[in-house]
Amino acid sequence: MTSNRPLGVAVIGAGYWGPNLVRNFQGSASFQLRWLCDLDRSRAERVVGRYSTVRVSVDLDEVLADPEVDAVAIATPAGTHMQVALAALRAGKHVLVEKPLAVTVAEAEELVREAESRGLTLMCDHTFCYTPVVAQIRDLIHSGDLGDIMWVDSIRINLGLVQRDIDVIWDLAPHDLAVLDFIMPEGVVPVSVSAVGRDPIDAGHSCLAYLTLNLSNGAIAHINVNWLSPVKVRSFTVGGSKRTLVWDDMNPMYRLNIFDRGVDITSDEDLGVEEKRNRLISYRSGDMIAPALQEREALQAMVEEYAHAIRTGTPPKTDGRSGVRVLRILEAASASLAENGALKMVEL
Ligand SMILES: NC(=O)c1ccc[n+]([C@@H]2O[C@H](COP(=O)([O-])OP(=O)(O)OC[C@H]3O[C@@H](n4cnc5c(N)ncnc54)[C@H](O)[C@@H]3O)[C@@H](O)[C@H]2O)c1
Repeated sequence: MTSNRPLGVAVIGAGYWGPNLVRNFQGSASFQLRWLCDLDRSRAERVVGRYSTVRVSVDLDEVLADPEVDAVAIATPAGTHMQVALAALRAGKHVLVEKPLAVTVAEAEELVREAESRGLTLMCDHTFCYTPVVAQIRDLIHSGDLGDIMWVDSIRINLGLVQRDIDVIWDLAPHDLAVLDFIMPEGVVPVSVSAVGRDPIDAGHSCLAYLTLNLSNGAIAHINVNWLSPVKVRSFTVGGSKRTLVWDDMNPMYRLNIFDRGVDITSDEDLGVEEKRNRLISYRSGDMIAPALQEREALQAMVEEYAHAIRTGTPPKTDGRSGVRVLRILEAASASLAENGALKMVEL
């Protein structure tokens, strides 16, 4: 892709999330939004407004037949991602898909194969990976500032929209799993997962769930997702051997806190067991710092990453393969849930 003209893009899906993509593509100099496609024409018309030059269609084939469309962005329900994305790839378009990439690993792998064989970009919108706070967390972990990662604890609970087609794990946990995938040091991956959930309101699937992941370095990660909590909590804590960080997304003033506090154990071979217990555990009580973070909309950075990946042919930070890795954990978590928490291996 050598021309500097803006990339022609079509957004598919004008429901809750699609308008956010529309707004960010329209605000980007890298793209020209050409189409908004939705099975419900009036919904799409309401989103683009009366005087817009963006065309509206209910027919995906009509959109894909436009040679000026270089790329599509798919914000339809998860169960339709595969069919829409595959059609777009086969029409030679670059594809951005909302999370989750598909509803099975097999489907997602087919999308990756199709994109790679055609030399097209396949990207998954793991939105949080484009926030300044997650970029900073990744840097802190990769630079070794936190030391060895020992534990991760993520809480994502609020009164959420109870989804009809997917349970709370498939709705909310992709965010936590995508962040985990993005921030962990090279080679540290989930090896097994156990998941338990409950459906106290008879919604037909779990409305609250707890996932426990064992990581390849011996660390443990716990994820709590819940649609029924009257209180909204978005907290993500990473405990390291040197420092611990707490990302509190509900607290913009102190969104990220890094604690030089923790528990140290010094080794002294000459002491007996009791003495060791009493004397070798020491508590570090150092500073807490809250680094200044840029305030920037994550979708803006995500959209620019999409343009960059298309223009340079380099894989985006959240490429199709990262979407597949998240799905592998989701599938293993579902299998565990069905057996009330039985440990399931994750093949990454
Ligand atoms: N990245 C995020 O933070 C985030 C947040 C919310 C939702 N999402 C994702 O966005 C996607 C859409 O979620 P939503 O809440 O907007 O759903 P929604 O049900 O509100 O909207 C989906 C829209 O897609 C349309 N549609 C369905 N099938 C279609 C097809 N084949 N062709 C064209 N249009 C079609 C529907 O008419 C509807 O208007 C999901 O994958 C969801 O997980 C991502």
